[in-house]
Amino acid sequence: MDRNTLLKKSIQIILENQDASGSFPASPSFPRFRFCWPRDGIFTACGALASGHAESTRRFLLWMDKTLLKHKEIVYSLKNKLDSGITLTESDFLPARFTMDGDIEPTVSGDVPFYFTKWPKIYSLNGIDNGNSWPNFQTDCYGAWLWGICHYAKTTGDYKILEECSESISLTIEYLKLTWEMPCYDPWEEYGQERAIGTLGSIAGGLIAINEFKNDPDITNWIEKIRSILRDAASSCNFLPKYVGSTDIDGNSLWLFIPYGVFDFNDPLTLATVKQVEEQLLFGGVKRYRKDVYYGGGEWIVLTCWLSWYYTAIGEYARAEELLKWCEEHTESDGLFPEQIFDHLNYPDIKDEWETKWWHESPAPLLWSHAMYIIACKALKDATE
Ligand code: BGC
Repeated sequence: MDRNTLLKKSIQIILENQDASGSFPASPSFPRFRFCWPRDGIFTACGALASGHAESTRRFLLWMDKTLLKHKEIVYSLKNKLDSGITLTESDFLPARFTMDGDIEPTVSGDVPFYFTKWPKIYSLNGIDNGNSWPNFQTDCYGAWLWGICHYAKTTGDYKILEECSESISLTIEYLKLTWEMPCYDPWEEYGQERAIGTLGSIAGGLIAINEFKNDPDITNWIEKIRSILRDAASSCNFLPKYVGSTDIDGNSLWLFIPYGVFDFNDPLTLATVKQVEEQLLFGGVKRYRKDVYYGGGEWIVLTCWLSWYYTAIGEYARAEELLKWCEEHTESDGLFPEQIFDHLNYPDIKDEWETKWWHESPAPLLWSHAMYIIACKALKDATE
């Protein structure tokens, strides 16, 4: 499908699937994905913004604000529980996804996602996982929210929104203060016992964005502390690894450079990390990581667009274009982007198992994929016109 048609289709998919409440489902056609993940939602809303639909972005941000305030007690009681040393459970943390109305989904006992039983070491979180709910404790999405609201304000000049949402912004900062050092599920909702670089980077990115407005020296110190943890984590392999203590590369490390700006484009750590992404994860499209077992571990549209976005930012337009073309060649027949493409699977045998036990294909349309495509196309167009 040609670029203009696919861009039109992408924004139509995003706008038509925005719920009356303002939230976005991750994918409308996959039952387990009819929830709103703040991580997906922020970038989906920024996709709407990149195609000129700022009012849709604003509605989403106000939904986030309302949703956070609805659950503010979680943050207050987490503080008390941490102060008194009570054992925590997963419901003591803000969730990774909400219902379309901003509620927390009820835990359905018996409906255990099969991966909990299949890869318990990967998917269970010692001490705070009750074993029968979504891997909910994920802090990266709250960093993404801080970044997203600032990005919207700066892009549109609608700074009023920062005032309107000041209570939920402060609540988020408070929540991150309590949780940023804890191991939690990573942006791929896995490895809950680790401290993921993608998570720490997203938190730093959110703090950098909000501190442009707050100029709070405590936040500045906090960001520097995260940077130093990230540099230490890179010391054994000379690039940013998947998590503290790992020497594997993860495609989501790209987020730290764009849009989060945790490290500059010309920082040796950035260059070394991107080189690893190119050498180990680029198979036409970009994989999440080499040991990824989810649906066998293919190439992800969001990450492929992310690398394109990065290339545009550093002026490598031909490479940015090549990646967008790859995405265009990998839509489903009706122009829908799935979550991932199954061209070069890490573990081909495992894909069938996921399809039988989880869903018969990769969820499509995935709104986040369409949004990243819009964002990367706009970046390239703006840079080259
Ligand atoms: C991905 C998450 C994403 C979620 C909803 C999962 O498969 O790993 O990053 O937020 O799907 O799209």
